[in-house]
Amino acid sequence: MEIKVVSGDITRIKVGAAMVNLFEGVKQPGGATGAVDQALGGAITKLIAEGEIKGKLNEITVIHSLGKLEPERVVVVGLGKQEKFTLDSIRGVMAEACKYLRKLGVKRAATIVHGAGMGGMNAEKAVQAIAEGSILGLYTFRKHITKENEKGEIEELLIVERDANKVPVLEQGVNRGRILAEATNFARDMINEPANYMTPSDMAKIAQDIAAKYGLGCTVLDRDEMKNLGMGALLGVAQGSKQPPKFIILSYRGDNSSNSTLGLVGKGLTFDSGGISLKPSENMDEMKGDMAGGASVIAAIRAIAELKLRINVTGIIPATENLPGGAALKPGDVLKAMNGKTIEVVNTDAEGRLILADALSYARKQGLSPIIDVATLTGACRVALGDVCTGAFGNNQEVINKVIKAGEDEGEKIWQLPMFEEYKEQNKSDVADIKNSGGRYGGAITAAQFLAEFSEDTPWMHLDIAGTSFASKERAYLTKGATGVAVRTLVNYAMALAEEQKK
Ligand code: BES
Ligand code: MN
Ligand code: ZN
Repeated sequence: MEIKVVSGDITRIKVGAAMVNLFEGVKQPGGATGAVDQALGGAITKLIAEGEIKGKLNEITVIHSLGKLEPERVVVVGLGKQEKFTLDSIRGVMAEACKYLRKLGVKRAATIVHGAGMGGMNAEKAVQAIAEGSILGLYTFRKHITKENEKGEIEELLIVERDANKVPVLEQGVNRGRILAEATNFARDMINEPANYMTPSDMAKIAQDIAAKYGLGCTVLDRDEMKNLGMGALLGVAQGSKQPPKFIILSYRGDNSSNSTLGLVGKGLTFDSGGISLKPSENMDEMKGDMAGGASVIAAIRAIAELKLRINVTGIIPATENLPGGAALKPGDVLKAMNGKTIEVVNTDAEGRLILADALSYARKQGLSPIIDVATLTGACRVALGDVCTGAFGNNQEVINKVIKAGEDEGEKIWQLPMFEEYKEQNKSDVADIKNSGGRYGGAITAAQFLAEFSEDTPWMHLDIAGTSFASKERAYLTKGATGVAVRTLVNYAMALAEEQKK
């Protein structure tokens, strides 16, 4: 779908549907909605009076214009209560409206800038949210379905603004929203892909393609090179699978005047069966998405490069399968990580922290700072926070605060969990420096404490996306399946850092 900003009058544009809006409780619409109402001979006001249109959030009412104005239909979208209105309301309502229009077979649609009038929102931000909501909401993953979608897709969305002078600024907002949403969908595509189509080698290939297209550096280490670097923890996980592991390093340099580089580390478990500590078979297929952290890092770096941000970023994605092959890791085995620490593997299903241990050590060795890792790390985080919030942990409150804020702006909720010393007790091993599972209680926190042993004194933050990376049902702009969570948070954080460095 193409999104264009045009100046003009929404009643005079030839489209299948024109979207206007209404806040809950408003009886007499003003602005563009008022103008459309007038052209329709007061149809909207009448439906409000009759109680058919209430303006509740995500409410959609379609009115056929029957020649009274150029658009074939008028769609009145509800924005909810004005005091609760946010950029995320815009994303959600655009997603719902676009999905509805696609079902009707509409090919060209137009919308006014929701929130810019009565909502009092910054128009550039509002337009960014319009682009994000519509692109994210219309996402589908049909690659392996041979039957074509009957109604097809919306081909064009016009954002209509009366004032021609505002068009260039709004175009910037659309462009940013498009880049962020398309990167999120790119991550969703990787995550939704079944594990037989998304092996560690496939992930490495995707990173190399991105690098070639956007002029990034890309190095992929193979098993022998990992061995030379002493990545015993990652190699331990990989030894149960026939698929060769790949250690992917993707780097973007947008600021040659600075010698600091942001490090993004993403868990790339292309399939997690649990290994010898085998998972139950119910829903095991979901574990094709255990590389969601890695996918979000690749996608975020793509967006950062597209936006040409003035910042240096290196992404590190340790990629492997976790399978119970004949050579697989066994409970009780002891591994030596790249930083020299020894790990007792009490549960082969706690594999994410093993591969991240070596990735974090590598990131530190490269001098990356701060380091943010993203991982579908623990079922415990999903139990604690559900699919609403990502869990956050770290050793540097300033980084944590900024990342949480960056997520908030982009509609990604993040909740910080504690890192009290007492939790470390649970990771103590009798036979090695540390063990890879601290048991069920506080599982998300003990996993984070394990990672902290490998990020050491580097400013570091860990995002546990086990609950948020996957949507079991559709919710506004989150389509069923992979959500692509963290992409927009990471890019928005990088934007904030780039802004800071300017000063
Ligand atoms: N990939 C899983 C975590 C997960 C669970 C992600 C559900 C998404 C949905 C991770 O590797 C895992 O298996 N963690 C174990 C750790 C335990 C053995 C200490 C878990 O959470 O059960
Ligand atoms: Mn696991
Ligand atoms: Zn896992």
